[in-house]
Amino acid sequence: MKKVLVTGGLGFIGSHTVVELQNEGFEVVIIDDLSNSSIDVLDGIEAITGKKPIFEKLDLREKSDVEQFFKKHSTISGVIHFAASKAVGESVEKPLHYYENNINALVYVLKEMIGLEDSNFIFSSSCTVYGQAEKMPITENAPVQPAESPYGNTKQIGEEIIQDTCKIKSDFNAIALRYFNPIGAHSSAKIGELPIGVPQNLVPFITQTAAGLRDSLSVFGNDYPTPDGTCVRDYIHVVDLAKAHVIALERLLENKNSSNFETFNVGTGVGSSVLEVIQSFEKVSGESLTYKFAPRREGDVISAYANTEKANNSLGWTAKSTLDDAILSAWKWEKKIRNL
Ligand code: WQD
Repeated sequence: MKKVLVTGGLGFIGSHTVVELQNEGFEVVIIDDLSNSSIDVLDGIEAITGKKPIFEKLDLREKSDVEQFFKKHSTISGVIHFAASKAVGESVEKPLHYYENNINALVYVLKEMIGLEDSNFIFSSSCTVYGQAEKMPITENAPVQPAESPYGNTKQIGEEIIQDTCKIKSDFNAIALRYFNPIGAHSSAKIGELPIGVPQNLVPFITQTAAGLRDSLSVFGNDYPTPDGTCVRDYIHVVDLAKAHVIALERLLENKNSSNFETFNVGTGVGSSVLEVIQSFEKVSGESLTYKFAPRREGDVISAYANTEKANNSLGWTAKSTLDDAILSAWKWEKKIRNL
């Protein structure tokens, strides 16, 4: 059974990916520092798959701890690296925390991996590397634009660090998955998104408003040059996104990659406006949502949705769930954790 390390494996996307890895027969080792996740997620994963992953609480900024870990787990076939701080707004207020946590940790993991034989690395990247792309849908060749936030910059720098590592080590194979907007939860409602404090992202704010935790949703801007004036994004079901990680890892393990550094946009290819997301929620939940228009949010791009041809044709992955499916799963999860 191949052993895979998932850093940040108790987080939102990480935990869903651990489930899919176990479903595919991988042995999973999770590293998480629990700064933005809960140890209870381990029980949720086990409740779904019947298998409890090996878990080590570890801060990847501690170089010696990372070295010790790789000495102990020397038979790792691949690493899926989620561990990072990810709040765009927070990164503007605490840039040095973001550079330390997102860059130093990545470097320490890579330094251990290049010592392994034939190492395989999947990097959690982001569509934020494109900034406001000129052309929709966005292809992987779209120019990487100056980051709008330190968070986005850490993703760009991360990709460059990995690319430079691949250049000096031909048997170090990496794939950067550029996520669009991950939403939803596992159909079992045993794992899902657990935003700490006031949610920054649209969908958890919608479900918390409907659950009565928030008075109303503020729609940040309705004067954008889009069909209904609100921003357009590509909302992808987190389970579809998780499956893309397993397929990407298997691509490397089976030496199907065309070069030792590849990037793939992981989205549905469908752009949905904020108002369309609200309409989807009201349709699938039967609830009416209280919302009001508010000023634009600093740093928001007008529109971002993926051209998925490369992921569909080369990676052999396609998103299966619709916006309605994903929104319904998010609502089911919210009701579960609020005992509604
Ligand atoms: C979506 C739209 C908001 C909240 C996020 C991550 C980014 C990347 C992609 C991983 C925007 C609007 C939101 C609210 C609103 N993920 N909105 N009211 O900003 O596209 O990016 O996913 O790398 O890192 O930040 O997602 O959900 O915050 O916003 O009107 O209360 O919803 O203005 O138009 P975003 P989001």
